[in-house]
Amino acid sequence: MPHSSAEPAAVLAPIIDVYLDADDWRPALRTDVRRGFADRPKHLPPKWFYDDRGSQLFDRITRLPEYYLTRREREILATSASQIAAASAADTLVELGSGTSEKTRVLLDALWASGRLKRTIGFDVSEGTLRTAASELAAEYPGVEVRGVVGDFDRHLDRIPRAGARLIAFLGSTIGNFAPVHRARFLAELAGTMDGDDSLLLGTDLVKDPARLEAAYNDAEGISHEFNKNVLHVLNRELQADFDVDAFEHVARYEPEHEWIWSGLRSRREQTVTIAALDMTVTFAADEMLHTEVSAKFRLDGLREELAAVGLHVTGHWTDPAGDYGLTLAQPR
Ligand code: SAH
Ligand code: AVI
Repeated sequence: MPHSSAEPAAVLAPIIDVYLDADDWRPALRTDVRRGFADRPKHLPPKWFYDDRGSQLFDRITRLPEYYLTRREREILATSASQIAAASAADTLVELGSGTSEKTRVLLDALWASGRLKRTIGFDVSEGTLRTAASELAAEYPGVEVRGVVGDFDRHLDRIPRAGARLIAFLGSTIGNFAPVHRARFLAELAGTMDGDDSLLLGTDLVKDPARLEAAYNDAEGISHEFNKNVLHVLNRELQADFDVDAFEHVARYEPEHEWIWSGLRSRREQTVTIAALDMTVTFAADEMLHTEVSAKFRLDGLREELAAVGLHVTGHWTDPAGDYGLTLAQPR
């Protein structure tokens, strides 16, 4: 938390720029469904998990005993945030896929303590979650300019304000939710928006024992299952579809050849689904999969090469003592 001073700074109202409202994302959802259901296996991009319920379910996942990623990342930040703040010399924190901005506060505290913090900018596809987080941050960090950008990683990175020396944090291993070609394109676009005094802080889950990885995506309480199936609730509500959500089951398995967790929904029986808003019927064979997400796992060498390919040079790397998770700082050459 910021230090108190004799003259309390004013709480500044957050400024939220919306580039993705319902008029914009609904056509995008329609296109993704038409395209993804025409392919084999059928697939949907993971961004459609995150309506308000999906964001809340993800928040519950972060507190599950099996889902070590968030705890490990928070531990690393707790010990290394001041070093990261010093190495970045930033006065602005940008957080991509900021969600509830829970871990953001550790970085904000470190930047505040450095005496440089001027502004923080969250970027997320989930407008409700972003607005709530922005209001909370504005109240907690008086005098700091709080901004939010509602946008899609694939289309709106260039709308993020370029003010100040920026520490661009992409935490939670969300970069793992891009398949390699998509990840390379995303990194190139992001690097293209970075100025010489900007830094990128990337959180990545590291390759480890497959049993631990699979447990993290198949928790005993079944929250991962609910999170995965949430996309069917989104299609039912937004596209007037009639998915029988209980007729699908969650599948998440480690694929060592790709070093990722592959997630999907398996149709428990042969079934036909109507998607009224698209005037479309879709059939699923018994056991047919709808692919919903990959969660790639990383090695430092590979990450270093991927960053170098887009002109970013690794200047710092931190892991927890068990080597479960990594935070990597990279700067333009
Ligand atoms: N950074 C947080 C949240 C990670 S969950 C943490 O580490 O815990 C992933 C976040 O990315 C969610 O808040 C989701 O709404 C957002 N997200 C997913 N796909 C997105 C996309 N295509 N564009 C922008 N945000 C996206
Ligand atoms: C946000 N993202 C990094 C999470 C992950 O680990 O891939 C989403 C998630 N999917 C299932 N559990 C958590």
